[in-house]
Amino acid sequence: MADYVEIFEVGPRDGLQNEKRQIPTADKIALVDCLSAAGFRRIEVASFVSPKWVPQMADSAEVLAGIARADGVSYAALTPNMQGLERAIAARADEVAIFGAASEGFSKANINATIEESLARFAPVAEAAKAAGLPVRGYISCVTDCPFDGPTPPEKVAEVAARLDAMGCYEISLGDTIGQGRPETIAAMLDAVLEVVPASRLAGHYHDTSGRALANIEVSLDKGLRVFDAAVGGLGGCPYAPGAEGNVATEAVHDRLVALGFDTGLDREVLSRGADMARAMRGA
Ligand code: HMG
Ligand code: MG
Repeated sequence: MADYVEIFEVGPRDGLQNEKRQIPTADKIALVDCLSAAGFRRIEVASFVSPKWVPQMADSAEVLAGIARADGVSYAALTPNMQGLERAIAARADEVAIFGAASEGFSKANINATIEESLARFAPVAEAAKAAGLPVRGYISCVTDCPFDGPTPPEKVAEVAARLDAMGCYEISLGDTIGQGRPETIAAMLDAVLEVVPASRLAGHYHDTSGRALANIEVSLDKGLRVFDAAVGGLGGCPYAPGAEGNVATEAVHDRLVALGFDTGLDREVLSRGADMARAMRGA
Protein backbone atom coordinates (compact mmCIF):
# COMPACT_ATOMS: atom_id res chain seq x y z
CA MET A 1 0.00 0.00 0.00
CA ALA A 2 1.17 3.52 -0.79
CA ASP A 3 2.50 5.64 2.07
CA TYR A 4 -0.14 8.03 3.42
CA VAL A 5 0.62 11.73 3.39
CA GLU A 6 -1.93 14.01 5.02
CA ILE A 7 -2.91 17.35 3.57
CA PHE A 8 -4.18 19.64 6.33
CA GLU A 9 -6.65 21.93 4.59
CA VAL A 10 -6.23 25.55 5.69
CA GLY A 11 -8.09 27.36 2.90
CA PRO A 12 -11.16 28.49 4.85
CA ARG A 13 -8.81 30.16 7.38
CA ASP A 14 -5.40 30.97 5.90
CA GLY A 15 -6.97 31.39 2.49
CA LEU A 16 -9.97 33.51 3.25
CA GLN A 17 -8.41 35.66 6.02
CA ASN A 18 -6.60 37.65 3.37
CA GLU A 19 -9.50 38.43 1.04
CA LYS A 20 -10.34 42.12 0.93
CA ARG A 21 -13.97 41.59 -0.02
CA GLN A 22 -16.13 40.44 2.91
CA ILE A 23 -17.13 36.92 1.92
CA PRO A 24 -20.66 35.96 3.00
CA THR A 25 -20.70 33.50 5.90
CA ALA A 26 -22.99 31.20 3.90
CA ASP A 27 -20.35 30.93 1.16
CA LYS A 28 -17.69 30.01 3.71
CA ILE A 29 -19.98 27.36 5.17
CA ALA A 30 -20.70 25.94 1.70
CA LEU A 31 -16.95 25.70 1.01
CA VAL A 32 -16.26 23.90 4.29
CA ASP A 33 -19.18 21.52 3.68
CA CYS A 34 -17.75 20.69 0.27
CA LEU A 35 -14.28 20.12 1.75
CA SER A 36 -15.74 17.90 4.48
CA ALA A 37 -16.77 15.48 1.75
CA ALA A 38 -13.30 15.40 0.19
CA GLY A 39 -11.67 13.12 2.77
CA PHE A 40 -9.65 15.56 4.91
CA ARG A 41 -9.03 14.59 8.53
CA ARG A 42 -8.43 18.17 9.59
CA ILE A 43 -9.75 21.45 8.19
CA GLU A 44 -8.89 24.86 9.62
CA VAL A 45 -12.10 26.85 9.41
CA ALA A 46 -11.89 29.61 12.01
CA SER A 47 -9.65 32.21 13.58
CA PHE A 48 -10.53 33.76 16.92
CA VAL A 49 -8.21 36.71 16.58
CA SER A 50 -9.11 40.34 17.10
CA PRO A 51 -11.80 41.27 14.55
CA LYS A 52 -10.17 44.70 14.35
CA TRP A 53 -6.98 43.04 13.11
CA VAL A 54 -8.61 40.54 10.75
CA PRO A 55 -12.22 41.55 9.98
CA GLN A 56 -12.59 38.71 7.48
CA MET A 57 -12.51 36.15 10.32
CA ALA A 58 -15.03 37.96 12.55
CA ASP A 59 -17.75 35.45 11.67
CA SER A 60 -15.73 32.41 12.74
CA ALA A 61 -18.26 31.34 15.39
CA GLU A 62 -21.08 31.52 12.82
CA VAL A 63 -19.05 29.40 10.42
CA LEU A 64 -18.46 26.73 13.07
CA ALA A 65 -22.16 26.85 14.01
CA GLY A 66 -23.33 26.57 10.42
CA ILE A 67 -21.23 23.75 8.99
CA ALA A 68 -22.42 20.18 8.79
CA ARG A 69 -19.76 18.44 10.86
CA ALA A 70 -18.61 15.25 9.21
CA ASP A 71 -17.65 12.25 11.33
CA GLY A 72 -13.93 11.94 11.84
CA VAL A 73 -13.07 15.48 10.69
CA SER A 74 -11.43 17.83 13.16
CA TYR A 75 -12.46 21.46 12.63
CA ALA A 76 -9.60 23.70 13.75
CA ALA A 77 -9.31 27.31 14.88
CA LEU A 78 -6.52 29.79 15.58
CA THR A 79 -6.37 31.12 19.13
CA PRO A 80 -3.77 33.85 19.81
CA ASN A 81 -4.68 34.39 23.48
CA MET A 82 -7.08 33.37 26.25
CA GLN A 83 -9.89 35.47 24.78
CA GLY A 84 -9.48 33.59 21.51
CA LEU A 85 -9.46 30.24 23.28
CA GLU A 86 -12.65 31.06 25.19
CA ARG A 87 -14.36 31.98 21.91
CA ALA A 88 -13.09 28.77 20.27
CA ILE A 89 -14.39 26.62 23.11
CA ALA A 90 -17.78 28.38 23.02
CA ALA A 91 -17.95 27.79 19.26
CA ARG A 92 -17.04 24.10 19.73
CA ALA A 93 -13.82 24.03 17.72
CA ASP A 94 -12.36 20.51 17.78
CA GLU A 95 -8.77 21.67 18.08
CA VAL A 96 -6.93 24.95 18.37
CA ALA A 97 -3.65 26.43 17.23
CA ILE A 98 -1.27 28.89 18.81
CA PHE A 99 0.83 30.74 16.29
CA GLY A 100 4.24 32.25 16.83
CA ALA A 101 7.17 33.22 14.67
CA ALA A 102 10.88 32.66 14.39
CA SER A 103 11.54 36.32 13.58
CA GLU A 104 10.96 39.32 15.82
CA GLY A 105 9.81 41.61 13.01
CA PHE A 106 6.96 39.36 11.95
CA SER A 107 5.99 38.48 15.52
CA LYS A 108 5.55 42.16 16.31
CA ALA A 109 3.66 42.89 13.08
CA ASN A 110 1.37 39.87 13.30
CA ILE A 111 0.52 39.56 16.98
CA ASN A 112 1.96 42.72 18.51
CA ALA A 113 4.36 40.84 20.76
CA THR A 114 8.00 39.83 20.85
CA ILE A 115 8.70 36.12 20.43
CA GLU A 116 9.29 35.81 24.16
CA GLU A 117 6.09 37.69 25.03
CA SER A 118 4.12 35.53 22.62
CA LEU A 119 5.42 32.30 24.13
CA ALA A 120 4.51 33.56 27.59
CA ARG A 121 1.02 34.33 26.27
CA PHE A 122 0.67 30.91 24.61
CA ALA A 123 1.59 28.83 27.66
CA PRO A 124 -1.69 29.38 29.54
CA VAL A 125 -3.66 29.00 26.28
CA ALA A 126 -2.08 25.59 25.66
CA GLU A 127 -2.63 24.62 29.29
CA ALA A 128 -6.30 25.63 29.29
CA ALA A 129 -6.95 24.05 25.89
CA LYS A 130 -5.57 20.73 27.07
CA ALA A 131 -7.64 20.98 30.26
CA ALA A 132 -10.70 21.47 28.01
CA GLY A 133 -9.73 18.37 26.04
CA LEU A 134 -8.68 20.25 22.90
CA PRO A 135 -5.54 19.22 21.01
CA VAL A 136 -3.19 22.15 20.41
CA ARG A 137 -1.22 22.65 17.23
CA GLY A 138 1.66 25.11 17.06
CA TYR A 139 2.63 27.27 14.09
CA ILE A 140 5.95 28.95 13.49
CA SER A 141 5.98 31.64 10.82
CA CYS A 142 8.92 32.89 8.77
CA VAL A 143 10.94 29.69 9.13
CA THR A 144 13.35 30.64 6.35
CA ASP A 145 12.70 34.32 5.52
CA CYS A 146 10.98 37.26 7.16
CA PRO A 147 9.61 40.26 5.25
CA PHE A 148 11.05 42.56 7.93
CA ASP A 149 14.21 40.86 9.24
CA GLY A 150 15.53 38.96 6.19
CA PRO A 151 16.81 35.36 6.42
CA THR A 152 15.84 33.43 9.56
CA PRO A 153 18.58 31.41 11.33
CA PRO A 154 17.56 27.70 11.44
CA GLU A 155 18.57 27.55 15.13
CA LYS A 156 15.96 30.16 15.97
CA VAL A 157 13.24 28.00 14.39
CA ALA A 158 14.50 25.00 16.36
CA GLU A 159 14.46 27.04 19.58
CA VAL A 160 10.82 28.13 19.08
CA ALA A 161 9.85 24.59 18.01
CA ALA A 162 11.33 23.18 21.21
CA ARG A 163 9.39 25.72 23.27
CA LEU A 164 6.08 24.92 21.54
CA ASP A 165 6.84 21.22 21.90
CA ALA A 166 7.41 21.69 25.63
CA MET A 167 3.98 23.35 25.86
CA GLY A 168 2.44 20.14 24.56
CA CYS A 169 1.69 20.99 20.95
CA TYR A 170 0.87 17.70 19.28
CA GLU A 171 2.27 18.95 15.96
CA ILE A 172 4.28 21.96 14.86
CA SER A 173 3.60 23.49 11.49
CA LEU A 174 6.57 25.23 9.90
CA GLY A 175 5.49 28.25 7.89
CA ASP A 176 7.29 29.68 4.89
CA THR A 177 4.96 32.62 5.30
CA ILE A 178 6.18 34.67 2.34
CA GLY A 179 7.09 31.77 0.07
CA GLN A 180 10.76 32.70 -0.23
CA GLY A 181 12.09 29.35 0.99
CA ARG A 182 14.19 27.22 -1.34
CA PRO A 183 14.83 23.50 -1.08
CA GLU A 184 18.30 24.26 0.38
CA THR A 185 17.04 26.68 3.04
CA ILE A 186 14.05 24.47 3.89
CA ALA A 187 16.40 21.48 4.25
CA ALA A 188 18.78 23.42 6.51
CA MET A 189 15.86 24.61 8.64
CA LEU A 190 14.45 21.07 8.92
CA ASP A 191 17.85 19.65 9.87
CA ALA A 192 17.94 22.04 12.83
CA VAL A 193 14.32 21.43 13.87
CA LEU A 194 14.63 17.66 13.57
CA GLU A 195 17.28 17.79 16.29
CA VAL A 196 14.54 18.76 18.74
CA VAL A 197 11.20 17.52 17.31
CA PRO A 198 10.71 14.29 15.34
CA ALA A 199 9.41 14.39 11.76
CA SER A 200 6.26 12.57 12.88
CA ARG A 201 5.20 15.71 14.76
CA LEU A 202 6.09 18.30 12.13
CA ALA A 203 4.12 19.72 9.22
CA GLY A 204 5.25 21.84 6.29
CA HIS A 205 3.22 25.00 5.62
CA TYR A 206 4.52 26.52 2.45
CA HIS A 207 3.22 29.50 0.56
CA ASP A 208 3.77 29.46 -3.17
CA THR A 209 4.79 33.06 -3.83
CA SER A 210 7.89 32.01 -5.77
CA GLY A 211 6.48 28.81 -7.23
CA ARG A 212 8.78 26.65 -5.11
CA ALA A 213 6.30 25.20 -2.62
CA LEU A 214 6.09 21.81 -4.34
CA ALA A 215 9.88 21.53 -4.48
CA ASN A 216 9.99 22.47 -0.80
CA ILE A 217 7.43 19.75 -0.05
CA GLU A 218 9.57 17.22 -1.89
CA VAL A 219 12.65 18.02 0.14
CA SER A 220 10.53 17.84 3.30
CA LEU A 221 9.26 14.41 2.28
CA ASP A 222 12.90 13.33 1.98
CA LYS A 223 13.43 14.53 5.54
CA GLY A 224 10.51 12.37 6.72
CA LEU A 225 7.63 14.86 6.99
CA ARG A 226 4.23 13.39 6.18
CA VAL A 227 1.84 16.32 6.82
CA PHE A 228 1.52 19.42 4.64
CA ASP A 229 -0.79 22.39 4.96
CA ALA A 230 -2.42 23.62 1.78
CA ALA A 231 -5.36 25.76 0.68
CA VAL A 232 -7.85 24.67 -1.89
CA GLY A 233 -7.68 26.82 -5.02
CA GLY A 234 -4.39 28.32 -3.76
CA LEU A 235 -6.31 30.79 -1.65
CA GLY A 236 -4.58 33.02 0.74
CA GLY A 237 -1.75 34.92 2.24
CA CYS A 238 -1.22 36.70 5.50
CA PRO A 239 -2.51 40.26 6.01
CA TYR A 240 0.53 41.06 8.20
CA ALA A 241 3.18 39.68 5.84
CA PRO A 242 3.68 42.01 2.90
CA GLY A 243 4.25 39.95 -0.22
CA ALA A 244 2.71 36.74 1.14
CA GLU A 245 0.74 35.28 -1.73
CA GLY A 246 -1.44 32.23 -1.53
CA ASN A 247 -0.84 28.97 0.20
CA VAL A 248 0.23 26.19 -2.09
CA ALA A 249 -2.93 24.83 -3.73
CA THR A 250 -4.29 21.63 -2.20
CA GLU A 251 -5.07 20.12 -5.59
CA ALA A 252 -1.48 20.75 -6.80
CA VAL A 253 -0.06 19.14 -3.66
CA HIS A 254 -2.44 16.22 -4.07
CA ASP A 255 -1.44 15.70 -7.69
CA ARG A 256 2.28 15.89 -6.93
CA LEU A 257 1.95 13.47 -4.01
CA VAL A 258 0.03 11.00 -6.14
CA ALA A 259 2.62 11.32 -8.92
CA LEU A 260 5.30 10.52 -6.32
CA GLY A 261 3.38 7.39 -5.31
CA PHE A 262 1.80 8.62 -2.07
CA ASP A 263 -1.80 8.19 -0.98
CA THR A 264 -3.66 11.29 0.28
CA GLY A 265 -7.04 9.68 0.90
CA LEU A 266 -8.68 12.58 -0.94
CA ASP A 267 -11.41 12.51 -3.57
CA ARG A 268 -9.98 14.50 -6.50
CA GLU A 269 -13.39 15.32 -7.97
CA VAL A 270 -14.71 16.80 -4.76
CA LEU A 271 -11.42 18.66 -4.39
CA SER A 272 -11.86 20.18 -7.85
CA ARG A 273 -15.34 21.35 -6.90
CA GLY A 274 -13.91 22.95 -3.75
CA ALA A 275 -11.16 24.61 -5.81
CA ASP A 276 -13.77 26.07 -8.18
CA MET A 277 -15.74 27.44 -5.23
CA ALA A 278 -12.59 28.92 -3.68
CA ARG A 279 -11.53 30.58 -6.93
CA ALA A 280 -15.00 32.05 -7.38
CA MET A 281 -14.78 33.53 -3.89
CA ARG A 282 -11.54 35.32 -4.61
CA GLY A 283 -12.89 36.45 -7.94
CA ALA A 284 -10.18 34.57 -9.86
P1 HMG B 1 -3.39 43.74 20.64
O1 HMG B 1 -4.01 44.95 20.03
O2 HMG B 1 -1.99 43.82 21.12
O3 HMG B 1 -4.28 43.09 21.79
O4 HMG B 1 -3.52 42.56 19.59
P2 HMG B 1 -5.02 43.59 23.06
O5 HMG B 1 -5.01 42.45 24.00
O6 HMG B 1 -4.47 44.93 23.51
O7 HMG B 1 -6.51 43.79 22.52
C1 HMG B 1 -6.90 44.83 21.64
C2 HMG B 1 -8.37 44.70 21.35
O8 HMG B 1 -8.63 43.46 20.67
C3 HMG B 1 -9.25 44.66 22.59
O9 HMG B 1 -10.50 45.22 22.22
C4 HMG B 1 -9.43 43.19 22.83
O10 HMG B 1 -10.60 42.89 23.53
C5 HMG B 1 -9.52 42.66 21.42
P3 HMG B 1 -10.90 46.73 22.59
O11 HMG B 1 -10.73 46.83 24.09
O12 HMG B 1 -9.91 47.60 21.82
O13 HMG B 1 -12.30 46.85 22.08
N1 HMG B 1 -9.09 41.26 21.33
C6 HMG B 1 -9.83 40.27 20.85
N2 HMG B 1 -11.08 40.24 20.34
C7 HMG B 1 -11.55 39.04 19.94
N3 HMG B 1 -10.83 37.87 20.01
C8 HMG B 1 -9.58 37.88 20.50
C9 HMG B 1 -9.05 39.11 20.95
N4 HMG B 1 -7.86 39.45 21.48
C10 HMG B 1 -7.90 40.76 21.73
N5 HMG B 1 -8.87 36.75 20.56
C11 HMG B 1 -3.76 40.24 19.03
C12 HMG B 1 -3.02 41.25 19.88
C13 HMG B 1 -3.00 38.93 19.12
C14 HMG B 1 -5.17 40.07 19.55
C15 HMG B 1 -3.79 40.78 17.58
O14 HMG B 1 -2.49 41.10 17.21
C16 HMG B 1 -4.33 39.79 16.60
O15 HMG B 1 -5.52 39.46 16.62
N6 HMG B 1 -3.48 39.29 15.69
C17 HMG B 1 -3.86 38.24 14.74
C18 HMG B 1 -3.28 38.52 13.38
C19 HMG B 1 -3.65 37.38 12.47
O16 HMG B 1 -4.70 36.78 12.61
N7 HMG B 1 -2.76 37.09 11.51
C20 HMG B 1 -3.01 36.01 10.57
C21 HMG B 1 -2.91 34.65 11.18
S1 HMG B 1 -1.23 34.06 11.36
C22 HMG B 1 -0.84 33.46 9.78
O17 HMG B 1 -1.59 33.61 8.86
C23 HMG B 1 0.42 32.66 9.62
C24 HMG B 1 0.16 31.14 9.49
O18 HMG B 1 -0.68 30.86 8.39
C25 HMG B 1 1.48 30.40 9.31
C26 HMG B 1 2.34 31.00 8.19
O19 HMG B 1 1.91 31.09 7.05
O20 HMG B 1 3.45 31.39 8.54
C27 HMG B 1 -0.51 30.59 10.76
MG1 MG C 1 0.02 30.74 6.27
